[in-house]
Amino acid sequence: MIVVKVPLKITLFGEYAVVFRKPAIAATLPVYMSFKVTPNNDGLLHIKSSTLLGKLYMVSIDRTSLKVINSYVEEAEVLKFLRYVLKALELCEAEIRPGSKKGLYIEMESPVPAGVGLGSSAAVSVATVSACLATYTSSTEVDRNLIARIAWRTEQEVQGAASPMDTYTITFGGLRYIEPSVPFAEEIKTQQKLPVLVGYVPKKATTAELVNDVKRKGAIVPEIFNAIMDTIGLIVNNAKQAILKNDLEMLGILMNMNHGLLEALNVVSVEHSMIVKALRAVGALGAKTSGAGGGGAFVALARSHFEIPMLSKVAEAFNAKIIASEIGSSGVMIAIS
Ligand code: MEV
Repeated sequence: MIVVKVPLKITLFGEYAVVFRKPAIAATLPVYMSFKVTPNNDGLLHIKSSTLLGKLYMVSIDRTSLKVINSYVEEAEVLKFLRYVLKALELCEAEIRPGSKKGLYIEMESPVPAGVGLGSSAAVSVATVSACLATYTSSTEVDRNLIARIAWRTEQEVQGAASPMDTYTITFGGLRYIEPSVPFAEEIKTQQKLPVLVGYVPKKATTAELVNDVKRKGAIVPEIFNAIMDTIGLIVNNAKQAILKNDLEMLGILMNMNHGLLEALNVVSVEHSMIVKALRAVGALGAKTSGAGGGGAFVALARSHFEIPMLSKVAEAFNAKIIASEIGSSGVMIAIS
């Protein structure tokens, strides 16, 4: 059996602009999804999870005809999610064993439901590619660049558009400066652990829907849209310097500016506007929506680690769930047992 653990992630700076080839800064969270994968000979993909969609589901699907043989939840819902697993397997096999379609039994567990804006679709893609490569090579020494490249392609094909940010961050782990045009994920070494708080509220639209809407509206006012993307790129480069200098005040200012530009793109939900303002009002140096928005994840920067419990209480008063107060954990981990 192959056991893969994949971290969820948070975007600190640069979402949306990274889709338009500007840099971004993202980090893994010490919150892991786990995948237990066993090969079998029936040509079927069997998936079981009690947590990923917030309820127990089991599905068996024929990998050639894509016919669902057996399903314990509504088919459309399962198929939407399964597209990442099926595409990741297809692309991995095309690369490593063309023509092969292995039968697999996959048991997935997740500490948070899918689709809350913490990179769970990228985590599923990275985990599936890692398990596939480990299965075919019977080794845990899998090339991380290969994992990240195939997982990124998976996201692009399933969603239509995706930057390499989520898949590269989750594969390599840590706090990363993403250069999407290479693509490359450079590790940013911090002098001290950043005092951040990460939480989420339910997300009301998928990332693909949100990105398409932003693109469509941007095309109506291209000059202004491009200026916003350029400014987000500038914010990201300044944020990298602020992190390297451990200048928390500057980092907070940049976080608030980045959030303002996400407001300009109209991807900030009412709940997030309130949470972000409340966190700043009680002393956070910065607070912003993180990821695609429409609800989902947010991140706040405190003056010090001592203030994190107080900020958590304020966010929880708005029905947010707190998921982490630490960033930069390890990337994907593969074991054979
Ligand atoms: C998704 O986590 C963040 C977006 O920038 C989309 C992407 O990078 O693919 C909105």
